[in-house]
Formats: sequence, structure tokens, C-alpha cells
Amino acid sequence: MADRIRAGILGTGSALPKRVLSNADLEKMVDTSDEWIVTRTGMRERRIAEPGEATSDYATVAAERALASAGVAAEDVDLIICATVTPDMMFPATACIVQDRIGAKKAGAFDLSAACTGFLYALANAIGLIESGRIKYAVVMAGDLLSRITDYTDRSTCVLFGDGAGAVVLGPVEGDRGFYSFDLGSDGSGAKYLYQPAGGSRIPASEESVAKRLHFLHMEGRETFKFAVKAMASSTEKVLQEAGFTREDIDLLVPHQANIRIIDAARKRFGLEEEKVVVTVHKYGNTSASSIPIALDEAVREGRAKPGDLVVMVGFGGGLTWGSTVVRL
Ligand code: UT7
Repeated sequence: MADRIRAGILGTGSALPKRVLSNADLEKMVDTSDEWIVTRTGMRERRIAEPGEATSDYATVAAERALASAGVAAEDVDLIICATVTPDMMFPATACIVQDRIGAKKAGAFDLSAACTGFLYALANAIGLIESGRIKYAVVMAGDLLSRITDYTDRSTCVLFGDGAGAVVLGPVEGDRGFYSFDLGSDGSGAKYLYQPAGGSRIPASEESVAKRLHFLHMEGRETFKFAVKAMASSTEKVLQEAGFTREDIDLLVPHQANIRIIDAARKRFGLEEEKVVVTVHKYGNTSASSIPIALDEAVREGRAKPGDLVVMVGFGGGLTWGSTVVRL
């Protein structure tokens, strides 16, 4: 029997807007304070896209950087997936716009919606196709401009979110590199805790839906928080066990960046040292599905994530959804 193909990460990339929205800026917009935001979330700044820009503008740059770091030509890419809840348009898919811009002439392309867990869901899809031998190279991106659906009169959400995109190139790898295990989960009974009420088929855009501010993201923060801490810990436990590793084997944890208290709770429950956890939440806020690939790319560029390292990525978000994976770089 031929050897099993294992998919791994060949390159990473990310792209962030230049414009910084600081806590001091938010103090001028809503009834909040730097002290509240820092102690409750760990956030100090986030990046916001310029008017007229779209998710594909950032996803394209992230994809190009990931391809350059992988040394893979765009023409050789078989598949492009973009995890997003803020696509350029309802359709066509943002992934198709990126496919054209990067010149990935033979690639299939689609978007995937799993909110902040979207990157992990997208990875699982691409890995399945690579490991079945159906495709060789995939670009998996996550891009979100959450500023486009954030209500900047609602202090309970507007301090949290930022814009950006991250990408990885996946392909077959040798030796002990690659993805070892996956956990993907959902609980739709929690859909009401984190959602964008209008703009879909239930409440299409109308003067009334706009007047009622239904095109903005709505979130029950406390419920989401409780769910997040539980989901992060149990999902990570599960993927490690499935892969046959223990917490001592982990070189780096790359969690979804929603709140430093959620990240810390998961880290402590797990008994991991602080230096083994990648944190970007203080400077980029919550960039939805992009937060994991942005953090991973930063860790790679800073030399914190090195070839041979065992990395756990874990996320959670609207759906409700959660997911995690173990990969050796
Ligand atoms: O990536 C997707 C998933 N999203 C998340 O993971 C978010 C998860 N949730 C959270 O991170 C936290 O629940 C929040 C940061 C959203 C809120 O922190 P919290 O410690 O759960 O605060 P809370 O919602 O319980 O609110 C505490 C108080 C409330 O006032 P009262 O009712 O106690 O008088 C809020 O009105 O803080 C108030 N508050 C604020 N005060 C100043 C809420 N937002 C603000 C604000 N500035 N921006």
C-alpha cells in the first residue's frame, strides 16, 4: 500500500490595515474607558480598514505573502478557501475574487462561514482533499472586516473588534510534519448569542431593518464567554489525546484572540507557561476567523514558531462553533 499522504503548513502570511483605533479613540465615541477595556478584554488597539476597502483586499495580500513564504506558485494552487462572515459581497465568493487577483488559474474557490472558528473549518476541508490525493496545494485564508458590521454606538461590542486577514499554504509534507488531529463542533441552539440579524433570507435589507440597526452584529457577551472557556479547554484536550500527545509536548498554543481573560483561563486550565501562548489581542482586538492565522504568521516571522514545533490552534465563535487542531510545522 502506498504511504499515507499527510498535509502540512508550507507557508504563512497576513495583512492588517494601517489605521489604528485606540481605546482613547473609543472613549470619545461611547461611554467607556481605557481601564474597563484593558481589564475586561486585554485590548489596547485594533486596526480598522479604510472606507471603500473590502475583505478581499487584505485576503489577497495575506495569500500572496503565504505563497511567497511557501515558495509555491499561484498557478500550482488547486483550491482556495476563504473563511469569512464579512465577504466583499453576498456573492460571488470572496475566494473567487482573490483567485483572480493572485492568478491562481486552475484553482477552485469558495467561501466558508463558521464565524470565528472559520479558519479551522477551512483547514479541515483542505486537509481532507490533500490527504485523499485529490489536490496538492491549497490556500486557506481567513479575512474579516468586522468594523463593517460593528455598531459604533454599542459599547458592549464596538470596543472588541478589528479588521485583518491571514492565510496559509497547505500541501503534502514528509516525516513527522503535518496535521495530526482535528476537532470540529457546533451547537446551533446558541445561534442567538452571536449573530447578524438582517441581510439574509429571514430579514432581507429594508429601510426598517436598517433603521432598527439589524445589520450590525449582536452578541450576548457573558454567555459567549462561558461557552468559550469550556469549548477551548475540552476541544484542546480532545485533539491532543487523539493525536497521542500530552500538554508537555506542546511548543506553542495559538488560540482565537477574543479576550485575554478567555486565553488566560484556557492556558491556566491547561497548565501551559505564558511564553508558549501567542497573544495579539492587545494590538489587533478580535479579528474573527483571521485571528488565528494572523497570530500564527506573526509567531513564524518572529521566530517563535519554528520548523518541527508542535502547535495547537484552537478557536470558537458564532454558530455556536468550536474547533482545534494539532500540527507539527
Ligand atoms: O469571537 C467571538 C466571540 N466573542 C467573545 O468571545 C466575547 C466573549 N465575551 C467577552 O469577552 C466579555 O463578556 C465582554 C468583554 C464582552 C464583556 O465583559 P464582561 O466581564 O462579561 O462584562 P459584562 O458584559 O458582564 O458587563 C459588565 C458591565 C455591565 O454594566 P452593569 O450591568 O454591571 O452595570 C456593562 O454594561 O460592564 C458594562 N460594559 C461596559 N462598560 C464600559 C459593557 N461594555 C462596556 C464598555 N465600557 N465597553
